[in-house]
Amino acid sequence: MEFSIKNDNPEKLHSDCVIIGVYESQKLSNAAQSLDKASDGYLTSILKRGDLEGKADTTLLLHSLPGVASHRVLLVGLGKESEFSEKQFSKAVRSSVKALSNSGATKAVSFLAELPVKQLSVRRRVALIAETVLDATYRFDAIKKKKEESKKGITNLAINVTLASEVKDAKAGLADGLALASGVSLAKDLGNLPPNVCTPTYLAEQALALAKKHDLKVKVLERDELKKLGMGSFLGVSQGSEEPPKFIILQHLKGKKEQKPVVLVGKGITFDTGGISLKPGAEMDEMKYDMCGAASVLGTFKTIAELDLALNVIGIIPTCENMPDGRATRPGDVLTSMSGLTIEVLNTDAEGRLILCDALTYAERFEPSAVVDIATLTGACVIALGHYATGLFSNNDDLAKELLQAGESALDRAWHMPLWDEYQPLLDSNFADIANIGGRAAGSITAACFLSRFTKKYDWAHLDIAGTAWKSGKEKGGTGRPVPLLTEFLVNRANNANK
Ligand code: BES
Ligand code: MN
Ligand code: ZN
Repeated sequence: MEFSIKNDNPEKLHSDCVIIGVYESQKLSNAAQSLDKASDGYLTSILKRGDLEGKADTTLLLHSLPGVASHRVLLVGLGKESEFSEKQFSKAVRSSVKALSNSGATKAVSFLAELPVKQLSVRRRVALIAETVLDATYRFDAIKKKKEESKKGITNLAINVTLASEVKDAKAGLADGLALASGVSLAKDLGNLPPNVCTPTYLAEQALALAKKHDLKVKVLERDELKKLGMGSFLGVSQGSEEPPKFIILQHLKGKKEQKPVVLVGKGITFDTGGISLKPGAEMDEMKYDMCGAASVLGTFKTIAELDLALNVIGIIPTCENMPDGRATRPGDVLTSMSGLTIEVLNTDAEGRLILCDALTYAERFEPSAVVDIATLTGACVIALGHYATGLFSNNDDLAKELLQAGESALDRAWHMPLWDEYQPLLDSNFADIANIGGRAAGSITAACFLSRFTKKYDWAHLDIAGTAWKSGKEKGGTGRPVPLLTEFLVNRANNANK
């Protein structure tokens, strides 16, 4: 998709299609009013006949409007003007893309950026258009021999702004949107790749390639070094697999030298069979997505690198497979973590926390201002929150608020879950310092409690993305979440640091 910024007349410009908005009151947007005037009230008469009510998620494609130079005009329903929010805005953009996906139009000019949305600057509105369009047109056919050969749909989109003085901001917004979309798209791709391709070694190669391209510091630790560091918990998970584990450290150091870094830690289980506590067969293929936390860290690094964000950020990715094998960890085994705490593995399927705890201990050496881990950690989180909200846990309420707010702004929302002391005894073990499971009740909370035992030295938050990182069923595919939330969080931190 090619994007550009325009500042043009809706009736005079030559394009395959002009995209304009209509509110539910049948009130026309400014550009729509211009087209209506140019066509002698053609749009008003069509609306009067009742062909479009302006409801959200509805569109009407018109051809050859008198007095209008472009071939087509797409009317997009915006819903109620009083309720027109960021979310409605993005929805309207999405339906415009969908409406044109089967038309002959390949070039279009969108006038949706002119719509006022509470508290959103032109820059943000343009960014949101680019992000949404790229999210809606994303396809994963890299490993299909027969590519879908649809020539239909938009390949060139110009985003029009009303004032010449807005062009500069619009261009900056376009750059923001493209940077976010490329991180989201990387996260989707890595998730969607099959687990025989996207192995721990592959993830390490991706990190090296990303670092090379954007001049980032990167290090990949191998098994021997992990042994020396005492990461018995991480190694315990990896030992049932033929694939060697990797421990990736990425550094984006573009903030002031003395500025303490934000550390992102991503769960990178490239396939989760459950290990000896084997999972049932149904939908087990989806456990290729168990590295989506890692993918979101790589995606976020790509985005902030493209934005050249002035902040110090470190990414840590422990990555391995969880497989059953003669050498695999057994239920009942006790592992010694890097922190020194011993862990009784009561269920080898609760492996995410076992690889994360050593990464969280490793994070201490960076003296972080905050650590955020991102993990497809528990099925219980999906039961609690479904597929809309990411589960958010934190040992610091201000950090939790910051992340919640970032999620709201980025349309990538999280929900604050409790991390109360009352839940901690559920992890008591008769044979080690801590057990790796806490029973059926409050499964996502006890998983977070487990992690909290390893994060006492810094401000920390945990994002359980088990329900939000990918979609099942007919639309099966990675979502790229929570790259938008993380990016927003880091951009806000950079803005505050450089005020
Ligand atoms: N990767 C899974 C969590 C998961 C399951 C995410 C289904 C999305 C959909 C994780 O490693 C796991 O297996 N967790 C167990 C924990 C249990 C054994 C305490 C779970 O949720 O069942
Ligand atoms: Mn598991
Ligand atoms: Zn898992």
